[in-house]
Amino acid sequence: MKITVTTSDLACVESALLALPFSSSELKKEGTTRLAAFGIELQVLHDFKADAGEVAVLYGQNANGSALRIALLGLGESVTLDDWRKAARSFASRAVDMKIEDIALDCSGIEALAVTTGHCVATLAAAFVEGCYGGSYRFDRLKSGKLDTKGSGEKSKGIAELLLRVNIGAVEECEKGAAEGRVVGSCQQMARDLVNLPGNYLQAVDIATAAEGSGKLYGYDVTVFHKKEIESLGMGGLLAVNKGSHHPPAFIILDYKPQGKVEKVVALVGKGVTFDSGGISLKPSENMGEMKSDMSGAASVLGAVEAAARLRLPLHIVGLIPATDNMPGATAQQPGDVITTYSGITVEVGNTDAEGRLILADALSYGKEKFEPDVIIDIATLTGACIVALGYAVAGFFSNNDKLADDIFQAGQQSGEKVWRLPLWDLYAEQIKSEVADVNNTGGRGAGTVTAAKFLEKFIDGHTNWAHIDIAGPSFSPKGTGKVNGGTGFGVSLLLEVLKKLVE
Ligand code: BES
Ligand code: MN
Ligand code: ZN
Repeated sequence: MKITVTTSDLACVESALLALPFSSSELKKEGTTRLAAFGIELQVLHDFKADAGEVAVLYGQNANGSALRIALLGLGESVTLDDWRKAARSFASRAVDMKIEDIALDCSGIEALAVTTGHCVATLAAAFVEGCYGGSYRFDRLKSGKLDTKGSGEKSKGIAELLLRVNIGAVEECEKGAAEGRVVGSCQQMARDLVNLPGNYLQAVDIATAAEGSGKLYGYDVTVFHKKEIESLGMGGLLAVNKGSHHPPAFIILDYKPQGKVEKVVALVGKGVTFDSGGISLKPSENMGEMKSDMSGAASVLGAVEAAARLRLPLHIVGLIPATDNMPGATAQQPGDVITTYSGITVEVGNTDAEGRLILADALSYGKEKFEPDVIIDIATLTGACIVALGYAVAGFFSNNDKLADDIFQAGQQSGEKVWRLPLWDLYAEQIKSEVADVNNTGGRGAGTVTAAKFLEKFIDGHTNWAHIDIAGPSFSPKGTGKVNGGTGFGVSLLLEVLKKLVE
């Protein structure tokens, strides 16, 4: 997407679709005059109410009389940053549906919007651009005709050009924000593609290949441990989950170091289960295909590391991705098995469907030991219970550090990827006690999201600045919930905002 910030007269804009944003009160006050200036029939005001995300496409004309296609863009009543991003998404989505590749936005009111929303112009510009990437995203590369067996076939064209028309005083901030928005937006698209690719297109090594490609392009190191190395390192959790599979596991390390001073070392750990059948503790068949999204944590770690590298954040960021599928079969691990993890801690596998925590256990201990990070954050589609608790829009999270918890909560508010903190109280550890091993990987009926977090906590070796984010709900929109179902890229923007806070 080519993004241009211009101060030229709106009447000279030659885009195929020009958006005029309105809050509902602006529409009441200035709607008539502004629409009349473009020769638009005022009857539309009977229907268009400027609700957040509402779009009405109309035909008017320029001052010089040439025809102009206009999108009225609703921002809602009290216009929040979320409303603004939502409007961008609807606008871009409508353009793509209309096969329009060249769009423009009248940002003359962006300074005023900065005042009402309490966010700076750069943040607003970034959110709008990110919203355009989000709304224009389609996943159609596996349709016949576009099919490419490597999964990198011709993609939906999306938006080729976005023009932002601003007042002279806002140019610099808009350009800065737009540049960041395009990084975040494109990294989210990459993450969504990985999540949407099904198990027969994306196996553990394919995540590694994607990571290597990104690392080469954006200047960070990628190391991949294959099965032999994983065996000699003694990553018993990852190996146990991989036992039933025909595809080898991979342990992927992304290593981004900034040019200048390193403010902090941050480890980001992402669950990379390319397909979760449940293993011998097999899942019910209904909607099992959605478990291709069980590597969403890995995708968001890759997206966030790429974004951080492109934005040159002054942090040493290590991404750790344990990757495998979780399959049943004669060689698969069995319920009741006791395994030894990388840390030496033994685990009774009460349920083979609680596989995410087994592979994360190895990655957390390895990351803590090898990189001595100041901060450790893991992100995973870990428990169905988190969907029961918080639904499909919000992620649950835990932290043993109140400052980090606050940063993560605020990052959620700013990125629009909302999170809610749950407790790590020790009383929950009772549920994962094992008779035969150090710990059980399941904790019985109640508080499944919390007992999963208590399990992970055992593998950070006393680290005092750790957080776990459970994205089982918001990582994937099931059929019928949105315009584009499937992978959402949730986590990329959230993690990037957290990283930015760590350098503040
Ligand atoms: N990948 C699932 C969690 C999940 C469920 C993610 C639904 C997205 C949507 C995870 O591996 C799992 O199966 N968890 C079990 C844990 C249980 C066996 C303790 C669960 O949530 O049922
Ligand atoms: Mn599972
Ligand atoms: Zn899983």
